[in-house]
Amino acid sequence: MGAALATEFRSPSSSNGCLSWLAQRIMSKDNGFDSIAAVSEIANSKRFTKPVIVELGPGSGFSLRTMFDKESPLQPSRVYAIEISEVFRQQLTEDKELATHIESGKLSIHNDDAINLKFIPDNSVDLVFGFNVVYFLFPLDVYLKELNRILKPGGELQFCVKEEAKYMDKQVYANTDWEACLGKMENNGFENVEKTEIRFKYDGPISYSTLIGKKKSS
Ligand SMILES: C[S@@+](CC[C@H](N)C(=O)[O-])C[C@H]1O[C@@H](n2cnc3c(N)ncnc32)[C@H](O)[C@@H]1O
Repeated sequence: MGAALATEFRSPSSSNGCLSWLAQRIMSKDNGFDSIAAVSEIANSKRFTKPVIVELGPGSGFSLRTMFDKESPLQPSRVYAIEISEVFRQQLTEDKELATHIESGKLSIHNDDAINLKFIPDNSVDLVFGFNVVYFLFPLDVYLKELNRILKPGGELQFCVKEEAKYMDKQVYANTDWEACLGKMENNGFENVEKTEIRFKYDGPISYSTLIGKKKSS
């Protein structure tokens, strides 16, 4: 796949009409089934009580809406959505379901690169979640240091990844060697790092696995 389309997958722009439209169509063709499943799995594990969550690259918001689902056991106290694409930010701010949470102050949408999240205090976040995002975080070590800073000791980092990413343009998809990513997590203050089994393994595009780690307690 060409670099121009890969770039639109990283962050759809308003200036690249057809390619941007195509990237968005492909990303939402399964109606977020995969990222909804990932958030539901976190919620149903009941590992978190009213967590503070940072979502990196929520895109059109399937996972965000699931986090705030009234029936979900997750019930976050605060969610920061970090979204560098203007096109996606517009979709998120116009979303009626998310509007209530923005108004209540529980959800904020930020036009910031995750390399510097200075508006989020040290040791204040329970979960950092990114679906189809880690590929683009280059240099990964610098991003991991910042994510480690904002997480509480014992807080969790979850990057959901797809095998197809390995076939994309390497200039844009910089991180697709999962073992290397886990190694970098370990080198940047995370422990118990692991890659989960592939979920929905035989279901093609919706299959994914998760790179998980916890911020070291000391
Ligand atoms: C392939 S889209 C994934 C969107 C959504 N999570 C999904 O799975 O449908 C990649 C997302 O990564 C985000 N992203 C890319 N580079 C980023 C960076 N440096 N900091 C924060 N987010 C970034 C973009 O904003 C975009 O929403």
